[in-house]
Amino acid sequence: MICSQVFLLLLVPLCTASFAFGVLVPEEVQALKDIAKTTGKTDWDFSVDPCSGKSNWVKNLPLVGEENAVTCNCSVVNATLTLCHVVSIAVKEENLQGTLPAELVRFPYLYEIDLSRNYLNGTIPKEWGSMKLLNISLRGNRLTGPIPKELGNITTLKNLILEFNQLSGNLPPELGNLLQIDRLQLTSNKFTGEIPATFARLTTLTDFRVADNQLSGTIPSFIQRWTRLNKLVIEASGLSGPIPSEISFLTNLLDLDLSFNKLSGQIPSGYYGLRRVLYMKPAHWTSA
Ligand SMILES: *[C@@H]1O[C@H](CO)[C@@H](O)[C@H](O)[C@H]1NC(C)=O
Ligand SMILES: *[C@@H]1O[C@H](CO)[C@@H](O)[C@H](O)[C@H]1NC(C)=O
Ligand SMILES: *[C@@H]1O[C@H](CO)[C@@H](O)[C@H](O)[C@H]1NC(C)=O
Ligand SMILES: *[C@@H]1O[C@H](CO)[C@@H](O)[C@H](O)[C@H]1NC(C)=O
Ligand SMILES: *[C@@H]1O[C@H](CO)[C@@H](O)[C@H](O)[C@H]1NC(C)=O
Repeated sequence: MICSQVFLLLLVPLCTASFAFGVLVPEEVQALKDIAKTTGKTDWDFSVDPCSGKSNWVKNLPLVGEENAVTCNCSVVNATLTLCHVVSIAVKEENLQGTLPAELVRFPYLYEIDLSRNYLNGTIPKEWGSMKLLNISLRGNRLTGPIPKELGNITTLKNLILEFNQLSGNLPPELGNLLQIDRLQLTSNKFTGEIPATFARLTTLTDFRVADNQLSGTIPSFIQRWTRLNKLVIEASGLSGPIPSEISFLTNLLDLDLSFNKLSGQIPSGYYGLRRVLYMKPAHWTSA
């Protein structure tokens, strides 16, 4: 690309155009078309390039600062060609009524999928386990079935947000391989069984929510290793037994909700880090 000082005025629009706008590689255009079918997304406009930012490929949502977008990462091949790959797909609150796309694996550079607050049903595709995702958000859909154990292979994952669905089954021990996980939000599903022992390894967690589930067993004492934890929300999770004294190791905890469980004992005394503590709601509370 030649953009000398002399020709700068003349050539700026040209230079900008060829750097800023590339074209999505054809395989990924086709993958987007297939995803549109699977999820029930009808208004993507394939007459313009999905990486153009034009038409409805980027759409502002009513909530300030929120957008639904297909985001691309483009790189210059040569003077006339810039090729793009999809890195993020966000389609929130659009009444999608299809199922989750296994086709996501056809985006080798994808790091984020956000399909929050739609009406998607069916199960989470185990194929996603082969991807290098950072963020998965499926909050507020109608998903059923278990969390595929293959998701434990996504060792890049930082946020796994599955709240407010109808997911069931045990929490897979393989999720203990998510050694970069920041937020694990599983509230309001139908999960059963105990919190797997492998979760002891999730020492990067800052936010763990399993409220409103049908879990069994106790609050594991290994949570003392989750020292970065800000939020621990296990309201009405089904957990029972003594409140582990090891909670006192969680000195970064700001938000603790243990209410509506059959727990006994007390939060250790002399522990003042909390901003919000909800553990005295009476329903099933039994004080030791
Ligand atoms: C875009 O891709 C390049 C090359 O793969 C990578 O170095 C860069 O970090 C990516 N940028 C974004 C914003 O993902
Ligand atoms: C740029 O690369 C494409 C694809 O490899 C090729 O078809 C085209 O001729 C190249 N253009 C230039 C100016 O080198
Ligand atoms: C998903 O919802 C559609 C209707 O929107 C229904 O026909 C289909 O049976 C549902 N599938 C599952 C697995 O619940
Ligand atoms: C991942 O999602 C969170 C919100 O859940 C957001 O703050 C963060 O920027 C996202 N990260 C990436 C890499 O998109
Ligand atoms: C993914 O996970 C499954 C089940 O946990 C395992 O059997 C498989 O070997 C893993 N695949 C890769 C590529 O790591």
